[in-house]
Amino acid sequence: MTGIVVAVDGPAAAGKGTLARRLAAALDLPYLDTGLLYRAVGRRVLDADADPRDAAIAEAAARALTPADLDRTDLRGPMADMAASAVAAIPAVRAALLDFQRAFGRDRGAVLDGRDIGTVVFPDARAKLYVTASVEERARRRFLELQARGVAADRSQVEAEIRDRDAQDANRPVAPLKPAPDAMLLDTTSLDAEAAFAAALDLVRGRLG
Ligand code: DC
Repeated sequence: MTGIVVAVDGPAAAGKGTLARRLAAALDLPYLDTGLLYRAVGRRVLDADADPRDAAIAEAAARALTPADLDRTDLRGPMADMAASAVAAIPAVRAALLDFQRAFGRDRGAVLDGRDIGTVVFPDARAKLYVTASVEERARRRFLELQARGVAADRSQVEAEIRDRDAQDANRPVAPLKPAPDAMLLDTTSLDAEAAFAAALDLVRGRLG
């Protein structure tokens, strides 16, 4: 029997992760942050002193991924962000990660967040959310998050990095970032975390019936 799959997609720093995690808890479903898979692949390539755009090395890294890779503490930050986005543009890397994502959601169902969950990974997901916010607001949130973690950051650099990653994720030929035709759009620009979660849960519950 197939479980309920909820797809949460959207651009960088839109708050998808927090929302998806809370939705999963509210709906009693497992949660998978698929961005972590691409981050872990990017990190393995960086560790090998290689270029994250190198398709052969990145594919080998994707095929060698183990669950322990996802527990690494160095999967976030500007280098890891850009390396993840670069390896994510390589078709063989995406293919290598597809089965894992599908297997994760197939039996018990799941909430998955990423860029192509509703378009490619689970085109038949029962509910699809496309979460976005203005680039300025996403940069503001990411900047505050970095500050809270004690990471030195420059606000305009954070915004430039988000713009670069949006462009790279949306313009790649394979599985580009875009809303599925049947996705419910949620713009969180003027919503705080609580209001965004309440709106997301309403939308998803409405779709699940
Ligand atoms: O969601 P995130 O910011 O942690 O994702 C990191 C990068 O991984 C993102 O820039 C693009 C890529 N990614 C992807 O291409 N497809 C997904 N389903 C998830 C992430």
